[in-house]
Amino acid sequence: MNIILLGPPGAGKGTQARFLEEKRGMIQLSTGDMLRAAIKRGEPLGLEAKKLMDAGTLVPDSLMIQMIENRIAQPDCGKGFILDGFPRTVPQAEALDKMLAAKNKRLDAVIELEVDEAALIERVSGRYTCAKCGAGYHDKFKPTKVPGVCDACGNKEFTRRPDDNAETMKTRLKAFHEQTAPIIPYYQQKGLLHAIDGMADMDQVQASIEAILNKI
Ligand code: AP5
Ligand code: MG
Repeated sequence: MNIILLGPPGAGKGTQARFLEEKRGMIQLSTGDMLRAAIKRGEPLGLEAKKLMDAGTLVPDSLMIQMIENRIAQPDCGKGFILDGFPRTVPQAEALDKMLAAKNKRLDAVIELEVDEAALIERVSGRYTCAKCGAGYHDKFKPTKVPGVCDACGNKEFTRRPDDNAETMKTRLKAFHEQTAPIIPYYQQKGLLHAIDGMADMDQVQASIEAILNKI
């Protein structure tokens, strides 16, 4: 099964994609994580993307389409994948349709997480990640069990994203409304869209997604 998790910054796409990886063995394809990995490795693409990401604006379509096309061609994606952060524009959605058709693959569902703007800002402002294993946490909604120690690997160092602040969120939300929201009617017309309440707690959101996927 191949699905898209769609929603504004901080909606819970990454959180839910990781639940689906664990539960269903699907592969999370997060374009944001791929770009951050390219930055860490000091690749030219990373350097080009960093300025845009830190400002909260989108990276050019051509780069993102190429990145996903290469990734989807890898054998592990045959298990089914979860697109998290892609597509983010109508040209990206159109390119995805073409690349899937060329590989005899298809999309089974597009799940839209609906979350109020104030909650999004609170979610990104409190987010932090284990510097070693990448497990995700939140100061208020998902703190580590032992303060300062990663539940998953015991590491004691954490990172916060440079774009996770109220100022950059304004630009990220503007990009979502102006450039990404038009893909919602695009998928509605194809009969693939399922909108769910992303304001609920993480387990309830997970249950709503499971209920949709179990019917497919
Ligand atoms: P990306 O990394 O994709 O960021 P984003 O879309 O802004 O989304 P986030 O990762 O911030 O949020 P999320 O929905 O994954 O939320 P999470 O689960 O972590 O992109 C970053 C940048 O890269 C872009 O701005 C752009 O520059 C570039 N880029 C990437 N893809 C691109 C593309 N295709 N085209 C062009 N440019 C691209 O949850 C957030 C927090 O809330 C966590 O702390 C979590 O613990 C908590 N939380 C989650 N769910 C709940 C819940 N139900 N209740 C309470 N707290 C919750
Ligand atoms: Mg994410």
